[in-house]
Amino acid sequence: MTENLDKLLDHEYDGIRELDNDLPNWWLWLFYLTIAWGVIYFVYYHVIEVGYLQVDEYRQEMDPNYVRVSSENPKFVGLLAEYHSPLFDPSGDMTPRKAILAGPQEAFVEASRESDTVVYVALTDEASIAGGQGIYSKNCVSCHGALGEGGIGPNLTDQYWLHGADMTSIIKSIKYGYPAKGMISWRGFLKTDQVLQVGSYVMTLKGTNPPNGKAPQGELVEE
Ligand code: HEC
Repeated sequence: MTENLDKLLDHEYDGIRELDNDLPNWWLWLFYLTIAWGVIYFVYYHVIEVGYLQVDEYRQEMDPNYVRVSSENPKFVGLLAEYHSPLFDPSGDMTPRKAILAGPQEAFVEASRESDTVVYVALTDEASIAGGQGIYSKNCVSCHGALGEGGIGPNLTDQYWLHGADMTSIIKSIKYGYPAKGMISWRGFLKTDQVLQVGSYVMTLKGTNPPNGKAPQGELVEE
């Protein structure tokens, strides 16, 4: 203890005494850095509103033409402008659900399709097909039937397709969906390799002719 006597404070309680240790410099700098970071973050996202918050990023992903409304009118001057939630809508507050429903999903789907020029090839190995079957029975059966015979969704076993029968078209159908027609975009729920697997599984359903097949929809595709 003797070497620390100069740090010893002059109070004592039940034999417990206190040393006046300084915080290490690295710790202090880290602390100052977090404060500086906080200021920069606050200014960037909430004052001059250059940065897109999560809600805006989500909307932008849904609609590539989306522009953050407030960023058209950055608040450089009125630093203390009234704060609004990112979901604020002058015509009435938006709940996240309303915001999603109001999102121009159709435009998003079309734009994504245009920019997506990748050609997909069906996987044929057993493990992938089995994986695809598992994903199918969990997510798709309710609308396309246990055997792909159709129901709410179209028959996936016949030669008639609304959106194309090749692997690339099927992957796009699954990935982007047709939200307005009741087929959601699965890319938010399935990983890329899962989409590939379930798409490959759908490819194996063609021509299986299960009982109670739903009437053909779309165009005849001969392969
Ligand atoms: C909530 C019901 C529903 C679920 C669940 C669903 N689909 Fe669909 N699906 C539909 C509907 C409805 C359509 C037709 C869309 C249209 O009319 O354009 C469709 C269309 C499709 C098409 C295009 C068919 C064609 O004729 O071109 C494919 C492929 C497809 N779904 C695969 C899947 C897969 C794979 C899953 C599971 C990951 C799935 N669907 C889950 C309702 C559903």
